[in-house]
Amino acid sequence: MSMTALILAAGEGTRMKSDLPKVAHEVLGVPMVRLVIQAAKAADCDRVVVVTGHKAEIVEALIPGVPTARQIEQLGTGHAVMCAREELDGVSGSLVVLSGDTPLLRPTTIARLVEARESGNAAAAVLATHMDDPSGYGRIVRDADGSVAAIVEHKDASADQLGICEINTGTYCFDSRVLFSHLDKLSTDNAQGEFYLTDMISVLRSEGLAVVASTTDDPGETLGVNSRVQLAQATRVMQERINEQHMLSGVTMVDPSLVWISPGVEVGRDVVLEPMTFLTGKTRVGDRAHLGPNTRVHDSRIGTEARVDASILDGAVVGHQATVGPVSYLRAGAILEVGAKAGACVEIKKSTIGEGSKVPHLSYIGDATIGKGVNVGAGSITCNYDGAHKHSTVIGDGAFIGSDTMLIAPVSIGRGSVTGAGSAISSDVPEDALAVERSEQRILAGWAERRRSKRDDNCTKGSSVDE
Ligand code: UD1
Ligand code: CA
Repeated sequence: MSMTALILAAGEGTRMKSDLPKVAHEVLGVPMVRLVIQAAKAADCDRVVVVTGHKAEIVEALIPGVPTARQIEQLGTGHAVMCAREELDGVSGSLVVLSGDTPLLRPTTIARLVEARESGNAAAAVLATHMDDPSGYGRIVRDADGSVAAIVEHKDASADQLGICEINTGTYCFDSRVLFSHLDKLSTDNAQGEFYLTDMISVLRSEGLAVVASTTDDPGETLGVNSRVQLAQATRVMQERINEQHMLSGVTMVDPSLVWISPGVEVGRDVVLEPMTFLTGKTRVGDRAHLGPNTRVHDSRIGTEARVDASILDGAVVGHQATVGPVSYLRAGAILEVGAKAGACVEIKKSTIGEGSKVPHLSYIGDATIGKGVNVGAGSITCNYDGAHKHSTVIGDGAFIGSDTMLIAPVSIGRGSVTGAGSAISSDVPEDALAVERSEQRILAGWAERRRSKRDDNCTKGSSVDE
């Protein structure tokens, strides 16, 4: 049967003290609201609707293609559900309601909650957990027979109720028809003057309908992010969860507390990740690659047995056995083919470095196509930008670019050619040629010796040398 999820993401998140809406804040590079959507989809919710409100455009831009309902004024979680009534018109069966600020929820937990409602023939099921410190959360109030009677918000709780450590995680499964037919019974008669979705529990119970609780014993999973402190806690839990999975599938982490990997990043077998390595976006790392320390890789593909040391890659492709670093920067469209090298302090953008070619030291390569077996000497750069337009450089197989060559684009160097060190090359070089562009060197015999004796003279006369 088809199942729908409604994700509440309209709140401002006052406690975040932020210009960004709360659910747009990221956990390991992914906005919280997107993590919640992913969990709902993985739990087999084939339809997901998100309620947006505070700075809705920002949230909606993060979730293209996902249907949304607007809550213009944020009058509480119950009111947020009311605002989705039209969007969810005609929905029947189980409706999962999730908070956009609960990014660690596992799909299996959502599925168990649905199962608890359906098998118990209940109007609603609420996901509960125990917390050593329940402050801030709604408390689960149970009847003498143990059944769920109500949820009481922290701000509305009596001294006795504040002592309850069983809390509402903000995750529910409702019989959608029953929910919408009773929604109007919510009121704002409470400490915050809001329509609380949590009040649905007592409303349904007073109608003689059954409500069940499903519990999870993993409080990390149900952490609600209301402040930056909780955002950091959520990031830590997510980091541990993701790293553990990678380690169990054959990745070595010298210190997993110092490795950050976004959800969805793929890491091969026998990969070694040194401390302070960050893998984010759509990154894929091939088997036996060795990354770090101090390395950031975003939206990049790292080939098998490649080595990246203390470098930043963003939109790059690094081939099998290619090497990067230390301290290099590979930007969008940088491609190192098999065995190629971008050595120390090298920046590469929108360029292909052919098989086995080397750019070992202090270079900038932009808009270039470099063939196989090329050596680019230290300090050489492509002058690809004339202030108005970008131009390309082409270097043929086996060419040898002397140190400190300025390749003034557009320019091409023929296969097997050599450029003299220090040359500014502005016209095309044919194959197998030598191109040198340098003023002639002068030798002034004895000049240095004459200068030294002049200095010695000045010193004995007491005047300073370097005037
Ligand atoms: C809520 C629950 C509380 C539970 C806790 C779990 C209510 C009244 N309380 O409290 O019992 O223990 O979550 O984390 O539901 N939102 C809207 N529109 C609104 C208000 C909120 O869309 O008008 C959204 C927020 O963006 C957020 C979610 O609903 O994603 C929860 O709102 P929040 O204000 O964080 O509720 P809590 O105080 O944490
Ligand atoms: Ca919350």
